[in-house]
Order: sequence, then structure tokens, then C-alpha cells
Amino acid sequence: MPKKITKDTAVVHASIDAEANHGIVNVPVYHASTITSPNLDDYRNHRGRYDYGRIGTPTSEASEQAVAGLYGMDDCVSAPSGLSAVCLGISGVLACGDHALFPDSIYGSARKFVENILPRMGVEVEFYAPLISGDEMAERFTAKTRLLYLESPGSQTFEMQDLPALIACAKRHDCLVAIDNTWGTAFHFDAVAHGVDVVIEAGTKYIAGHSDVSLGYVIANGATAKRIREYARFTGLCVAPDDHYLALRGLRTMHLRLRASEANGIALAVWLEAQSEIVAVLHPALPSHPQHQAWRRDFTGSAGLFSFVFDEAIPQKAIDALVDGLAFFAIGDSWGGYESLINQAKIKRTIAPLPQGTLLRIYAGLEHADDLIADLEAGFARLRDAL
Ligand SMILES: Cc1ncc(COP(=O)(O)O)c(C=O)c1O
Repeated sequence: MPKKITKDTAVVHASIDAEANHGIVNVPVYHASTITSPNLDDYRNHRGRYDYGRIGTPTSEASEQAVAGLYGMDDCVSAPSGLSAVCLGISGVLACGDHALFPDSIYGSARKFVENILPRMGVEVEFYAPLISGDEMAERFTAKTRLLYLESPGSQTFEMQDLPALIACAKRHDCLVAIDNTWGTAFHFDAVAHGVDVVIEAGTKYIAGHSDVSLGYVIANGATAKRIREYARFTGLCVAPDDHYLALRGLRTMHLRLRASEANGIALAVWLEAQSEIVAVLHPALPSHPQHQAWRRDFTGSAGLFSFVFDEAIPQKAIDALVDGLAFFAIGDSWGGYESLINQAKIKRTIAPLPQGTLLRIYAGLEHADDLIADLEAGFARLRDAL
């Protein structure tokens, strides 16, 4: 294989070894708990490549290596959900007595882990405003700060962090940087080039991509990767082989689905921006987004996930009339599949201000943009009737 290939080609060919598999293209699904050794000496000395199902099989390895390769990092450790990958990536590098910094706009379930579990482990946690500057961030570091956690854009509110400045600040303080890159994906945010040490991606979303798998990946290099793998191993984290298979199968078309979802997301965001009841569309790829320039500088594309905010005068019952009658936008949270979604989540913030007015989040799936826009048009007609 040529040394430098595009990510499009990488996802199509990653982890395929048809020759070793009777010519069959797809990676076999090994269901395994027991893995036996041919003799006691091999068993005692762990000579087999695999020796315990939970610790790894050709199926889990294929899925993990495909994602590690996509990010250009040494290793990738899988976990049974995106959230458990977040917890693994954080716990794997922290220890009792450490101080760690998290954005106020962190994914809501990750926030619950950070607020409720990390302090029990003796980790001091501190939240920071997602739009903090590098200079302001420098003041947060103490001798005990071990981890700067990033998530850009912010969950539900889509603030784009000043990633280069924040990462540079962490490096000056000899501190590890982790990012939840589920929105950016390996296609749109080059975490390694930006100096990130630990990348977390919910494979549940665009990688698996068909709304039927929960799984997450933590990607890292060298000693950091080793610590994370040890943590996963010592705490018994593992993913069912069928889920790895589905994730790998999803990965083959991820680039195409991502682009289609991205294009639909932009089309919907542009359409929504023109509606008089909407005061803001929080989509980083729109020139009206306050951190649009940061997105352009750091990312090469966008996910089809964004929010929009109604004028405060619009009552909830009119918004309900809009949403409840939609034909193609199901009401739900776990995005990245083929179908479009809409939600109105409870958002917790203790530092960053929330937009005034009702905020809805859209995930643009793979339907035709014209049908999605027609669906929203009918929805806005219902909203206007209900005013
Ligand atoms: C940014 C982000 N990270 C992590 C997760 C968690 O993924 P999972 O649902 O697989 O636990 C989500 C889920 O919505 C998410 O949006």
C-alpha cells in the first residue's frame, strides 16, 4: 500500500486481510471468552497472540487499529459507549491528587462523571468558560494540573474553543490534553497535528453510523496509550464483537455519510437563519457564528449537528406544534445515524451564559435536503398558526 493515502481510502481498506481470511473481505466476528493455549508452557508464558476474550480478539483489534490508523496515533482502546470512552480517557491519565480542567460546555453525561465520580477518586475538578483565552487559561494551572479537557464545539451551544492557544498553554505547563472529537471526527479535526494527547470519539455516532451500536474509542500515543489500555484492561472494559463488526462496517462509508450529513446540516442551518422567529443559528460553519473564524482555522469541515434559538416571545406550545408534527425529524438524542433528529435538551451551565429563548438541536441525517426543508417549512407554518 502507498505510504500516504487519504482518509477516504483508509476507511475503506483499514484492517482488511482477505488473504488470511479465505479471501473474505470483511473481518470475521470472533465471539470469545475462553481462548485456549496448546500447552501449559505457552499458557504460563502468554505466548499466544490472544489469551482472554475480554482483553482482545482479532475483531476488536481490527476495529481499534482502523481508528488508530485514521488518527495516525499508536493505539486505540475501545469502550462500550462513547461516554465510557470519555470516562476511560480521563481516568486513564489521572490519579488521586491531580487537578483537571473541563469546559463548562462539556457533553452533559460527561459532566455528571466529572462532577460526581472524579472527586470521589480524589481528583480536583475545575470548570472553565469554553471561550476562555490562552492567557486566562494560564492562570488556572497549578503544580497539580495534569489534564486539560477540550470539547469543541460545545455540547448543545456550539461554542468553538481557541484550541491552538489552549493546547499551547497546556504544553507550557507540561499538562496532557484530551479532546472529545465526536463532532470533529478524524476527518475534520486533525488532533495529532494540533498536539492533542488523548482523543475520544463516540463511535456510536458517525463511525457506526446506523443508530444501532453503542461504542467509543480512546486514541493516544506511547506511554499515555499504555496507561489507558492498562486502565481498560484492569477495569474489565470490553466491547461485544458484533458491535465492533458493525462499527467497522459503518466506518467503510463514514466519509460519504459525514459529507452528506454535513451538506444537509448547512442547508438546514441556512434555511433556519432566514426565519423571522429564529434569533440565532449556532452552526460553526455559518459566517454568522461568533467563532466562525476559529472553526475555519482549525477544522476542515463540520458535522450535521447544530442548534438554533427562538425569539424569547415564541411560546413553548407553538414550538411543540412545530416539532411534534415533523415527518422526518424524530425527537431523540443519539446523533450520527442515517436519520434526522431534533431535541430540546436540558442544558446545565455554571459559568458560560446560555442563549435567551428556546434552543433546539438538529441532527441532519441522510434524507434529501429538499424533503427536510419542506418538513421544516410545514413545521414553521404550524408554529405560526399556534401563535
Ligand atoms: C460529544 C459527545 N460525546 C460523547 C457522547 C457519548 O456517546 P454515547 O452515547 O455512545 O455514550 C455523546 C453522545 O451524544 C456526544 O454527543
